[in-house]
Amino acid sequence: MCGIVGYLGPAKAAPVLLSELRCLEYRGYDSAGVAIIQDGELSVLKAAGKLNNLEKLITDNKPTATVGIGHTRWATHGVPNDQNAHPHLDSSKTIAVVHNGIIENYEELKEELIKEGCAFESDTDTEVIAHLISKEYEKEKDMLKAIFKTVERLRGAYALGVVSQKHPDKIYAINQHYSLSVGLGNNESFLASDSMAVRQYTNKVVRLEQSEIAEITVEGVRLFAFDGKEVKRRPMSLDSNPYVIDKGGYKHFLLKEIHEQPLVLRQTLAKYLIHPTKPVSFIPHITPNGNAPTNNEEENALSKSYGVHLSDMEVKGIDRIQVVACGTAYHASLVGKLIIEQLCNIPVAVDIASETRGRRLMVNESTLTIAVSQSGETADTLSALEEAKKLGSFTLGITNRPDSHLAQITPNLIVTECGIEVSVAATKTYLAQLTSFYLLGIYLAEKRGAISAEQAKKLKSDLNAIPTLLEQILARENEIRMASLKYADAHDVVFIGRGLNYPTALEGALKLKELSYIHASGYAAGELKHGPIAVLDSKVPVVTVIVPGSVYEKTLSNAQEARARNAQMIAVACEGDEQAAKTFDTVLSIPQVDEFFSPLLTVVPMQLMSYFIADYLGKDVDQPRNLAKSVTVE
Ligand code: M6R
Repeated sequence: MCGIVGYLGPAKAAPVLLSELRCLEYRGYDSAGVAIIQDGELSVLKAAGKLNNLEKLITDNKPTATVGIGHTRWATHGVPNDQNAHPHLDSSKTIAVVHNGIIENYEELKEELIKEGCAFESDTDTEVIAHLISKEYEKEKDMLKAIFKTVERLRGAYALGVVSQKHPDKIYAINQHYSLSVGLGNNESFLASDSMAVRQYTNKVVRLEQSEIAEITVEGVRLFAFDGKEVKRRPMSLDSNPYVIDKGGYKHFLLKEIHEQPLVLRQTLAKYLIHPTKPVSFIPHITPNGNAPTNNEEENALSKSYGVHLSDMEVKGIDRIQVVACGTAYHASLVGKLIIEQLCNIPVAVDIASETRGRRLMVNESTLTIAVSQSGETADTLSALEEAKKLGSFTLGITNRPDSHLAQITPNLIVTECGIEVSVAATKTYLAQLTSFYLLGIYLAEKRGAISAEQAKKLKSDLNAIPTLLEQILARENEIRMASLKYADAHDVVFIGRGLNYPTALEGALKLKELSYIHASGYAAGELKHGPIAVLDSKVPVVTVIVPGSVYEKTLSNAQEARARNAQMIAVACEGDEQAAKTFDTVLSIPQVDEFFSPLLTVVPMQLMSYFIADYLGKDVDQPRNLAKSVTVE
């Protein structure tokens, strides 16, 4: 949450900071600001609202400074207004700070600083940092020393960017449990929370690790641990193709990303599944650069962390799997549990990562803990994985970002091949996470001898057929649009499903509420009668996910119970399902598919339905209110 950027070099800083911030808007978009040092004076431009408001300020003021830091905010302390927008200054207005994270002891620090005469201008936890650095600087007359002293006082997880009017040739960056990257250009340097933001200028990057401080100049960067010891780290090379972020002719990124799903699946499958007769391999034959893996450390720094490196003995010794994730990734994990249990006969527990806090995680040396996170930066998920590591569990990450924090803290990593997902609502990454679970299930089952070669071959062939089926759903987009808009005036929508499609119902409800702001809830279809059925009447649409297979009849009975309460009946069902045609007012049809793989298809009509309703209602589809794509606070 919140994005930090910085620039130091010969160019005008403000436009560079703005274009870096554009890449980080996914981390928060309720206000933005920059602090620049121009003609020896520190000045701040900041505005509540989207980045365009800051852009306007910059255009009006035309700053020519060549050094500065910037910030895009997702509010934690204090409402999103101009005063609470970052950067924040000390009392002398010579030190500016931008901040991602939470300072847990800010109230006691603030009280102390007020007693010492500091005047506060915002409700943020960030402002204490500017005052603390300033106080220490008065004593030390040295920014680095002042920062070392300041971090000793701060509790919590945070990343910071700092500039001082007295040292206009330097930017300081501080990392405590977050991600920060310094981009090294030709006589210029960049700072960003996500290396993607500096990739447009350079592919040479130094990442800050935990509890590190960077002193950045145009010549490069010096790193120090919090205890003051200098740390040497060679820069790494990023993917040589900068990420292209454009809508490709679609009205919204979300719609583009929904349409990218067949390609994404093909890419993820191509990476780990060489042929249906060959075992699934998580040592990729393609690296993030699209090249074959090499041993060149600098060139292939990202691919080093790739792959599952558990020995056959270790895989056979796993007696329990624990999965931790949040939001959409949690829904993918619920499907993952059923896949792995069915294929491998290993018990799998799935927890919402934030719910693992304050209790004992039931993991040990024979457990595999899997953290699933599109961004690889979700604080709750990372904390849960760290806890599992401490308890001796094997760990594995499933992420779309091989350059993320998650990739750094686990030796085993499955990378989904989605490209950047810009829209805050997850769509293509959900499908890729599901695909990773199917591949992982087959991989574990093959290694443990839980399935025959024939079964494995059939599963892989079925998986390879999914992208074509997805294309068939997307070809019916217009039909789905017309059907969905009939329900755009609903105030409450209920989603139900059973078995593998219970998580689909949860995901369908999440998509609809986050995009359209219509209240929606997902339930296990059999649970409807245990309470939720009380909300049903003729104004409430009920979306039932129903595919032929082990739970078809029972799901149909649950749908009938809703129909008997006059609910508006919608189904996501397979084409040719005559029973569904009779039971439901609207059928969003998908091609016929084996129940086992159906979650890969059933979610798509729901994504489209949510998109079309939200767009029709005029909502901010790609950046829904109050949300951020990367949730880096607990
Ligand atoms: O980056 P992560 O996958 O860890 O994010 C977890 C959730 O914040 C995320 O899935 C969120 O629920 C989606 N953006 C909703 O569409």
